Amino acid sequence: MEPEVQTGSARIIRRARGLVGVYDPPGDKSISHRALLLGARARGETVIANLAEGRDVRRTISCLRVLGVDVNLGPARGEARVVGRGTEDGRVDFHSPDRMLDCGNSGTTARLLAGVLAGQGFEATLTGDASLSRRPMARVAVPLRRMGAEISLTPEDTLPMTVKGGGLIGTRYESPIASAQVKSAVLLAGLSASGLSEYVEPVRTRDHTERMLKAFGASIETRAGGGGRGEYSVRLNPGSILMGRELEMPGDFSSALYLVVGGLLLSRSDLTLRNVGLNPGRSEALRVLTRMGAKIEVVNRRMVAGESRGDLKVHPSKLKGAGISGSSVVWLMDEIPALAVAMAFAEGESFVKGAEELRHKESDRIIAVVHNLRALGLEVGEFPDGFILRGRPTHDGGEFRSFDDHRIAMAFHVAALACQGESVIHGYDEAVDVSWPDFPEVVEALARS
Ligand code: S3P
Repeated sequence: MEPEVQTGSARIIRRARGLVGVYDPPGDKSISHRALLLGARARGETVIANLAEGRDVRRTISCLRVLGVDVNLGPARGEARVVGRGTEDGRVDFHSPDRMLDCGNSGTTARLLAGVLAGQGFEATLTGDASLSRRPMARVAVPLRRMGAEISLTPEDTLPMTVKGGGLIGTRYESPIASAQVKSAVLLAGLSASGLSEYVEPVRTRDHTERMLKAFGASIETRAGGGGRGEYSVRLNPGSILMGRELEMPGDFSSALYLVVGGLLLSRSDLTLRNVGLNPGRSEALRVLTRMGAKIEVVNRRMVAGESRGDLKVHPSKLKGAGISGSSVVWLMDEIPALAVAMAFAEGESFVKGAEELRHKESDRIIAVVHNLRALGLEVGEFPDGFILRGRPTHDGGEFRSFDDHRIAMAFHVAALACQGESVIHGYDEAVDVSWPDFPEVVEALARS
């Protein structure tokens, strides 16, 4: 069911003819949460460069501070120093919190922190905003309980979640759902467990946690099924002591994608995005766009701290429709709003199938995307697990809603730039603040009229 009203600021967006310039997108949000959490759990100091800005990552920082972790920001933009609370004998000396841990809008904060807390011998309660308080939490509670943590949720299996941790025993867990957040929660709990922890997922999800655990010195093995995208398992050996280190976050692929789509759709674009994270579990959207006829060059590809990154040169392109279904959907979850905008401007039919998980994100992203595509004047069919549309290269404009979801707001900002006339997005500013507070200023600086 579609929420009836959209509160918050309305932003008017006018046509642009190109995005021109060289730009380094903000640090990766997913990896930033992990750098902070592992840094807090490690021995010694972790120094992070290019930490993601935005409310979600600030929530992880404020929760860690309540647990007694010193996180110092600055002096440079995006710099953070985390004084780890890991001890010589492998324990973690967090403070028992004297208040609730407010995760705001951030599912990654709530679910990963649940894993960390499961290993601590005190009780803590995680809360969140209205959107996060609707999202499913049994998916993390089930494996963490199996490892020995006591976890309580509301009768609807939502936040607030109270975790009473300690005394965990490593377990083999075959997850029924493909979720990097659940995998990460189990691995973070596994760091405090006696015995081996093994996590098996039906389809391989983003593997930032595994890569970063290795970088911090954990003893961890991964085993992929056929094709790199099928079944996949991770084994974490007990007794690892994490050591603080220096880390530089790559640019966030999911954020960069809004500008990529803008660069493709606006005919006078000449855009280079530097230092973009290209982890295979994150950059599948490049393959989809290429199938649609996008001209995107990847140059200067390199590995830093176990993560691949490179620069993207984006050329204006005429796009044709494409379908997304099957196991690649897991690798595209956060990118579907931006891809839906590319589909709206592509000639012919496009569809997304097998993406039921989109209904459990910061908003019900199927409802949100379908609503906003219809606001462009397109005929769109909605399925329980996706949508179908027939795109066209020109649109007049639309009255869009953010659905209080940063990805919806940014995706339809880009759609608005590519429309002939003026558009409006309701509930814009507060939504964008979650992951990229200065997105509108960045777009303005790159846009050519
Ligand atoms: C994330 C995993 C994904 C993704 C989310 C960030 C992470 O969620 O959609 O934005 O940082 O692990 P799920 O684990 O629910 O698929």
